[in-house]
Amino acid sequence: MKEKIAQIQELLRNELSSCESMQALDALRVKVLGKKGELTALLRGMGQLSPEERPAAGQMINDAREKMTAMLEEKLSALKKLEQQAALRRETIDVTQPCPMPAAGSEHPLTLVMNELVDCFTGMGFEVVEGPEVELDHFNFELMNIPKNHPARDAQDTFYIDDNIVLRTHTSPMQARTMLSRKPPIRIICPGRVYRADEVDASHSPVFHQMEGLVVDKDVTMADLRGTLNAFAERLYGKGITTRFRPSFFPFTEPSAEVDLTCVNCHGKGCRVCKGTGWIEVLGCGMVNPKVLEMCGIDSTVYSGFAFGIGLERIAMQRYSIPDMRLLYEGDMRFLGQFR
Ligand code: DAH
Repeated sequence: MKEKIAQIQELLRNELSSCESMQALDALRVKVLGKKGELTALLRGMGQLSPEERPAAGQMINDAREKMTAMLEEKLSALKKLEQQAALRRETIDVTQPCPMPAAGSEHPLTLVMNELVDCFTGMGFEVVEGPEVELDHFNFELMNIPKNHPARDAQDTFYIDDNIVLRTHTSPMQARTMLSRKPPIRIICPGRVYRADEVDASHSPVFHQMEGLVVDKDVTMADLRGTLNAFAERLYGKGITTRFRPSFFPFTEPSAEVDLTCVNCHGKGCRVCKGTGWIEVLGCGMVNPKVLEMCGIDSTVYSGFAFGIGLERIAMQRYSIPDMRLLYEGDMRFLGQFR
């Protein structure tokens, strides 16, 4: 009996040392101490012992049961502890691990340029106004001194909605809208989209952006216009920037000029952007035609004014050496992401 018990204990000890899960431990407990277990079998076998032997044997088996129960419990708590440690390890949060950054957007180069120009001109006392992109022929052409059948209409391939309504071909109609709605002194800029039925190429798009400027007051001269535009060019491109005024014609200004800046893309050598000239035409300007002042209810014997219209795409392309205007509209994230 003693030997048998020792054997069972030995078996338990061996199996405990290689037991690695709670399930295995439970199976082991059943195998040794369960109803059909080996120790229980011994207990049953006591019937074959003589009455004198029984108490000692019973005592021995009970002692063994206690001892083995204790061994099982010890193993159980050891396994529990291991399991807890594993769980803690599994659930550890590494606070030093870099987290995936949310994709950050960036401002479009045209927005950057527009904001920069707005900053520049509001700094000089201009106020920002906005107007409709679907515009009356009356404002887009008539009040800008471009009557029906005027050849200047051909130069601006117009999208007509009907006989009287167009997609504005320039931001100039805001000159008329402003003069009709307020009295001088007037100092406004109007940034926005404009439309022309142009073929798409490296420097043309049917939708593009302009910023109109208008100053009307007593004693406004061409020198004020030049001074304002020089300040603008310097602010945008730094001191010493080369500008070129060329005499030009616009029906709404007299005299008129076109202002060029050195092409930043090729530094004057000539490239696709500047069509080989080394210059980029960025704006048209002039003294507001007295006829326009009068049509807009302003006494041209008392007031004078200057106006300008800046092409924002050209400025953006200059500023960021963008070789093809189409890049501005394609929405390619590899391109846009560079302006972050
Ligand atoms: N509206 C002209 C255009 O789209 C640009 C322009 C030229 C605007 C001269 C002006 C200006 O205000 O004075 O081509």
